[in-house]
Amino acid sequence: MSATGNAIEVRGLAKRYGPIEAVRGIDFSVARGEIFGLLGPNGAGKTTTIEILEGYRERTGGEVSVLGLDPGRRPVELRRRMGIVLQSCGIYRHVSVREVVGHWARLYPHPRDPDEVIGLVGLAEQQDRRTNHLSGGQRRRLDLALALVGDPELVFLDEPTTGFDPAARRSAWETVRALRSLGKTVLLTTHYLDEAQALADRVAIVKDGRIVVEGRPGELGAGPDRYTITYRTSAGEWREHHTNDPTSLLAELTAAALSRGERLEQLSVRRPTLEDVYLELTGDSPRSAASGDETPTPPGAGAREEPAGVVGDV
Ligand SMILES: Nc1ncnc2c1ncn2[C@@H]1O[C@H](COP(=O)(O)OP(=O)(O)OP(=O)(O)O)[C@@H](O)[C@H]1O
Ligand SMILES: [Mg+2]
Repeated sequence: MSATGNAIEVRGLAKRYGPIEAVRGIDFSVARGEIFGLLGPNGAGKTTTIEILEGYRERTGGEVSVLGLDPGRRPVELRRRMGIVLQSCGIYRHVSVREVVGHWARLYPHPRDPDEVIGLVGLAEQQDRRTNHLSGGQRRRLDLALALVGDPELVFLDEPTTGFDPAARRSAWETVRALRSLGKTVLLTTHYLDEAQALADRVAIVKDGRIVVEGRPGELGAGPDRYTITYRTSAGEWREHHTNDPTSLLAELTAAALSRGERLEQLSVRRPTLEDVYLELTGDSPRSAASGDETPTPPGAGAREEPAGVVGDV
């Protein structure tokens, strides 16, 4: 594959496990300094893709370039330049946190200070504890420490915050953002769509081994009739309109209401969230069942949120 400025280039990637086609022709690229999120249901092929990029799995077809190298050839240089949080990790069970991180640091040419990294992931109080005595979330924090201690250019994070309590998740987000501000590249998988929304510059949603959509998290829902305007009439009926031009439609609706001397109660304008788009593309969603304008929506019924009574994103 020709050299590009991108940290990761994937073209036509395919992987079979015997009869199972886990990855069926995936294309994407990740620019240097970018945080890219792979999303998708269980079994979609995310971990398989990441492990091929890490050089832990052989591909069946396609071309892959990571930091300009082919991970299929298992170049030592690549190992030194990347950090990894595997989806499941259980090595080094009978040594302390500090020993593991210190040992790991020595495998890299220019490691970060192990104590600093232990503090960064919030394990300072547990640094002398044996790793098999850590809680699940604390073990996951250790995994993150191991991915960071080599000060890599490229970090693979496969569900890095699974099992984290809410405060630990926020703090991990700060750590990932700090990586971006240092110019590092991050490839992340997560089932937490708020995490993808908060961290990723771009995401790809994978289903059955294929990418079904790719883009910036805030723009994925963009398309025809993607805004939903809801309000309650003075007669108490809920109205729902779908439009791609909420500014004009809102002006028309409010002008008409004012000319009748009415108010549009609990008026709201809503854009699809990443979660809406995800559910629509990967399975059944309430929105994909709705059709056309002026579909009356009983408040509180179905899975759609009751309108919040605010006007936003116009
Ligand atoms: N070593 C293996 N041998 C055989 N099949 C495998 C192997 N690893 C994964 N698979 C299959 O390949 C498909 C993709 O698995 P993969 O682990 O890549 O999914 P994933 O998107 O990471 O899912 P999750 O969100 O559950 O982590 C699944 O059908 C899985 O059962
Ligand atoms: Mg996985």
